[in-house]
Amino acid sequence: MKKSGSRENWSSHLGFILAATGSAVGLGNIWRFPYVTGQNGGGAFVLLYLACIAIIGIPVMICEITLGRHTRRNPVGAFKQLNPSSCALAHFIGLGMMLCGGLLLCMGTFGWGLLTMLMGILVFRFRWTLVGAIGVFAGFTILSFYSVVAGWTIGYIVKAVTGSLQFTDVTAAENVFGSFITHSYWPLLCHLVFMLMTIYIVYHGVRGGIEKWSKILMPVLFLLLVLLIIRGLTLPGAIEGVRFYLSPDFSKLTAQSVLEALGLAFFSLSLGMGAIITYGSYVDKNDNIFTAALAITALDTIVALLAGLAMFPAVFAMGFAPSVGPGLVFQVLPTVFNQIPLGALWAVIFFILLCVAALTSAISLLEVVTAYFIDERNWPRKKAALVCGGVIFLLGCLCAVSVADWERIKWLETSIVAIFGSTHDSFFNVMDDISSNWLLPLGGLFIALFVGWVWGPNQAIKEIRHGSKNFADVHLWSLLAGLKDDPSHSSDVHVVTLASLWGIFIRFISPVAILIAFLHTIGWLDIKRPEPEPVQPIVIEDLLEKIPPVEVE
Ligand code: TRP
Repeated sequence: MKKSGSRENWSSHLGFILAATGSAVGLGNIWRFPYVTGQNGGGAFVLLYLACIAIIGIPVMICEITLGRHTRRNPVGAFKQLNPSSCALAHFIGLGMMLCGGLLLCMGTFGWGLLTMLMGILVFRFRWTLVGAIGVFAGFTILSFYSVVAGWTIGYIVKAVTGSLQFTDVTAAENVFGSFITHSYWPLLCHLVFMLMTIYIVYHGVRGGIEKWSKILMPVLFLLLVLLIIRGLTLPGAIEGVRFYLSPDFSKLTAQSVLEALGLAFFSLSLGMGAIITYGSYVDKNDNIFTAALAITALDTIVALLAGLAMFPAVFAMGFAPSVGPGLVFQVLPTVFNQIPLGALWAVIFFILLCVAALTSAISLLEVVTAYFIDERNWPRKKAALVCGGVIFLLGCLCAVSVADWERIKWLETSIVAIFGSTHDSFFNVMDDISSNWLLPLGGLFIALFVGWVWGPNQAIKEIRHGSKNFADVHLWSLLAGLKDDPSHSSDVHVVTLASLWGIFIRFISPVAILIAFLHTIGWLDIKRPEPEPVQPIVIEDLLEKIPPVEVE
């Protein structure tokens, strides 16, 4: 960690990449990616996910790092600093939301109607600062369920140490997982322990710690995944899983899949709520934003893909259903460890690493919320970390209890159903659905629109130019051909550069792609063609009846 001016920076370029990768790589890659892929039919969903990463993830990642480094603030502060005093686009969006809200009220969906109207009014009042505020709100909702799952990893470390993870079949795995998460106090206790660790680190200031931990633990996690893949692939019957995972069958996608792939891409890259803006605010002026964004995205995607490859061969070899849901990692991997010599030891190491990966991500979530209260509300760091962490812990308790039994907090379920009319299996799923499928893609949409149309690519590229000359000053063809230093290619007039490509993405392609995902889920864009009408057999008599009799004079 070194000080430059008044603000701390990462100690090196690599330090930032590692810390941001630490935020990105976590339960999203190893727990969520495989189970959501399993529920959405495998290979085709993986392709959809990769498309979302490339078309939306990378451009938005560059936006977030640039916003952070330029403003050196938390997300709310960043948008506040760049907020124009009047903005036609914001007014247009606000008006649109108010109209939609009114329409929803007329249709009788009061909860959503009022909420959309309120958001419209807030957009009018605060314009783009609201994007940062939504990010801070998302920090609360995401971490509340995230820390519950992270708590499960702690529970599984304990189980592995005490040797109670040696399942040989599906039923045993299901029973152990089921009775663990529905236990009356174990999940709550583990959730508490995890939140205490997160609060402890954020309380003491995160930056030095994160760098150090990430450097050692990321590579170990990576090696362990490779080991699991090798074991999984050599199990009898594994090839079925490889086929499920790698050969796309688009008929298995549902209307919801597109938005889920998008939400998962945002979730696993930590995008859409300002975590990367916050981390970007500690980046040195001379660092290369473009290569950093590429490196973080590549590492994160590779870990997700490897986690899938570690899971699905074993799923099929052991006879699990690929669509078991959130318990996938916790049920499948212990059965694989059982097939490896010293399996219990490997299981302990694996769940410790998973827990650490979750910790480095959780820190980035709590840091966003804490940084907001420190910078904008002038709270001392310790108070901010404790209060925010405490609130998140309580929300998380509701999530954990609802997974065990919705009935225990019946009042919450009935009020959610009464206000929003939608039913979920648990409060956990409510939080998950709101944050991953709505808040993050919306945040990403607005970040792209803001940089593309309000702050402007010109300003952004001025910022990116520091440390990244190739991005805006070398013709793309010359760059790709490796001829950027050739005198004949050093013309001053560049038409196509990486920067121009990026500008087109954030102004048009990414926002449109996000909108398509939303409309598709709401059902306005059903890409599946309707079934053709069955062909009626032609009956001669019917035809004859329809011919008017010819009158003969
Ligand atoms: N990306 C992390 C994961 O894959 C989770 C995470 C950390 C996150 N910070 C975030 C998700 C910010 C969304 C936004 O586990």
